[in-house]
Amino acid sequence: MKELNNKVAVVTGAGSGIGRALAKLLAARGCRLALSDVNEVGLKETAESCGAKEVRTYLLDVSDRDAIYAHADQVAKDFGQVNLIINNAGVALSASVREMTDDDFKWVMDIDFWGVAHGTRAFLPHLIASGDGHVVNVSSVFGLIGVPKQSAYNAAKFAVRGFTEALRQEMQVEGQPVAVSCVHPGGIRTNIANAARMGKSENADAQRKGFDKLAMTTPEKAAETIVKGILRDESRILVGPDAWGIDALNRLLGAAYQPLVARFSRKNLYV
Ligand SMILES: NC(=O)c1ccc[n+]([C@@H]2O[C@H](COP(=O)([O-])OP(=O)(O)OC[C@H]3O[C@@H](n4cnc5c(N)ncnc54)[C@H](O)[C@@H]3O)[C@@H](O)[C@H]2O)c1
Repeated sequence: MKELNNKVAVVTGAGSGIGRALAKLLAARGCRLALSDVNEVGLKETAESCGAKEVRTYLLDVSDRDAIYAHADQVAKDFGQVNLIINNAGVALSASVREMTDDDFKWVMDIDFWGVAHGTRAFLPHLIASGDGHVVNVSSVFGLIGVPKQSAYNAAKFAVRGFTEALRQEMQVEGQPVAVSCVHPGGIRTNIANAARMGKSENADAQRKGFDKLAMTTPEKAAETIVKGILRDESRILVGPDAWGIDALNRLLGAAYQPLVARFSRKNLYV
């Protein structure tokens, strides 16, 4: 996809944070937008403020498989084509493997992994039919390295990365007209930590304050980086200087990054 004007772009989780900033930037680049979220109020605010030439909103829970497939068909019907799906909706959980409940583990996997997998599979036939499609799946730097108390989020975001990298190669091998990118944001100043679930022994206030201190990138800057990555057809889009640092750490040290992260976490996450 060399340019975005008049392309139909679908953004999940568009009611806040990175999704909202993406909606605004894609609108400024001339996209026609299909925006969805579970948060009706946030979604409406995004739609009203994004200034798109055409925007439709859809209440959608990405953990609901049948709803996503129905949504994909509805968007294709409403717009006549679909070029770009950004599977962005996500949630966070801070809890150790020993402490987290099955319910919380499943909540994260259902939204952060299955939401992305279903979103991709439901929209893929429409993207192929468009002749110029792009799948963008939002993982995290926690899809590159493991971090204490993030096992569920790590599992979902590593799974998104593997799924997305395999899909990119499939599209290339099959000669399909669909590009595929996996996004790995570092800390972005959004509502994600406020909306996160916490294990019962977590100090939620301290965790959230710690996140605010570490999150170095604005959602607007994140959206710029993602859109640039889409136009350059990057397979891996790293967002923020911390993401580049973590990627380098991983490449240089291999599994030996773990004691370093454990030491950092002892000071910053066990509060
Ligand atoms: N903020 C960060 O530091 C950071 C870092 C790495 C990755 N990410 C990822 O970026 C993506 C966007 O997160 P954000 O930081 O903008 O957070 P955010 O909380 O500001 O926005 C997430 C949006 O997803 C929506 N959402 C939650 N559950 C949903 C569901 N079941 N169905 C549909 N929508 C749902 C929320 O209502 C919200 O509008 C997520 O996938 C997140 O994991 C964020």
